[in-house]
Amino acid sequence: MVQPKPISFSEAERLSLIFDSETREEWQRTSHIMKTLDLKPDMVIADVGAGTGYFSSQFSDLLPEGKVYALDTEANMISYMNNRFAEEKRTNVETRQSEFTNPCLPEGLDVVFLANVYRFIKERDVFLGHMFDQVSHATQVVFVDFRGSNARVTPQQAVNEVTAAGFEVEDMDMTGCPDHYILRFCKPQAV
Ligand SMILES: C[S@@+](CC[C@H](N)C(=O)[O-])C[C@H]1O[C@@H](n2cnc3c(N)ncnc32)[C@H](O)[C@@H]1O
Repeated sequence: MVQPKPISFSEAERLSLIFDSETREEWQRTSHIMKTLDLKPDMVIADVGAGTGYFSSQFSDLLPEGKVYALDTEANMISYMNNRFAEEKRTNVETRQSEFTNPCLPEGLDVVFLANVYRFIKERDVFLGHMFDQVSHATQVVFVDFRGSNARVTPQQAVNEVTAAGFEVEDMDMTGCPDHYILRFCKPQAV
């Protein structure tokens, strides 16, 4: 079997041409993803695997009284975002370098968001275990990734893994985006 070639995320400038492309709304329907999140101006969100900051910039606009944590494992993505957010004069975004098996989430999050990241996480059980310990019942945990023939991790596999870590499924949106699923989870109250 031919293994997929590992992707390097170190070339932030080059990847920005894809991640921040004007056609992204067309291929991912990001406006639907943003609408689904239903963000309120004072919310605090962590964009895990934020990449070049495509979503973090939009979150920043919608959270004038809140805060965005833009997290990524790749140092070049962190530098790219630092430059981008400085140029965009954003004061409500903080970047942090996270670990491959630990999202390193700050306390007090309303939303944890992962777009096109889940399939790249290798030890997902360890990663999800840390995530479970780092969020509260009030935190919405939202995963967006490819479904259908482009899925490296199918939506059902993602649901199985995330629920095995202790989360409960709140919503599964399989049709709102052309090629992507949106899965929403929460941590049960009793835990
Ligand atoms: C395909 S990009 C998506 C970027 C951004 N979320 C977006 O939708 O534009 C995947 C990003 O996840 C990061 N990444 C990969 N594994 C990660 C992990 N275990 N924890 C956090 N970020 C990770 C990569 O460095 C890369 O920036």
